[in-house]
Amino acid sequence: MNASHKPNVLNLAAIEGELTTRYLGRPKSGANELSESIASTNSRALELAKSGAASGTMILARQQTAGRGRLGRSWVSPLDSGIYASFILRPPSNLVAIERMTLYTLAAGVACVKAIGECLSVPIGLKWVNDLVIDGKKVGGILAEMPSLTVKGALDDLKADDLAIVLGIGINICFQPNEIPDELKPKIDWLEMHTESVVDKNKLLATCAKSIEECCEAIEQAQDQKLLAEWKQYSVTLGKQIRAVSGDTVIEGQAEDITDSGALIVRKSDGHKTILYAGEISIRQADGSYV
Ligand code: BTN
Repeated sequence: MNASHKPNVLNLAAIEGELTTRYLGRPKSGANELSESIASTNSRALELAKSGAASGTMILARQQTAGRGRLGRSWVSPLDSGIYASFILRPPSNLVAIERMTLYTLAAGVACVKAIGECLSVPIGLKWVNDLVIDGKKVGGILAEMPSLTVKGALDDLKADDLAIVLGIGINICFQPNEIPDELKPKIDWLEMHTESVVDKNKLLATCAKSIEECCEAIEQAQDQKLLAEWKQYSVTLGKQIRAVSGDTVIEGQAEDITDSGALIVRKSDGHKTILYAGEISIRQADGSYV
């Protein structure tokens, strides 16, 4: 890496120089984007995906002013405090039917945990479905979205190859405590709280890209069970007592397993099983509280 690149500031040339991927982050020259500030890298990637951007295109930002999280939440994205990245993928339709697209979100979670574990010595794990957590606190998350399709002709004309998925990755690296809203302070952390030295964002991002590509290849090679086994290996949810709240409904029970599409199988105290397909869970702590 060129010595003029600061490891703590995202730099496109530095990232592209570190990449060891086959296609991720390697569209035609000039197609990847890094903005100093953008509303949301996912929104930009969705827009580009709709207008035909190539598979592998990488959209990055040093800051997001309207970063988006799951469940309609916002994603706190101060300047140079994290990695804010979105990748456009176009899964080959002959290899991945639309019903299996949900596996990409699991793949991205597994991939980021593996990449963080490769670059840093931190006890990172996955909280269902895709929260990157250390000691119960969230340090990152994945937002997988598909562009709404603008179909010019009849729906039947839509080719499966037009389908795209955007994988948005947010990793908290080096926040100042005053950058975090008070209500989030008990829930979120950043990687440098757990490391002795500065995290090289460019190296970490390139490692994530390689890992995402490999995990997505498992889907394309029908190795879903391998991917699910890896998710279970990194899970901090399975075997725990969990609580899920949806409107007026509260579900509590033991997180037993995940289905082949990544839904959470919960055994309630009355012995019945229920399956959670989406939403957010809290995990019961030793003191009986749910975090
Ligand atoms: C979550 O809620 O856990 C998902 C957070 C995903 C945040 C990332 S940051 C880069 C990309 N752009 C966005 O607006 N969101 C995702």
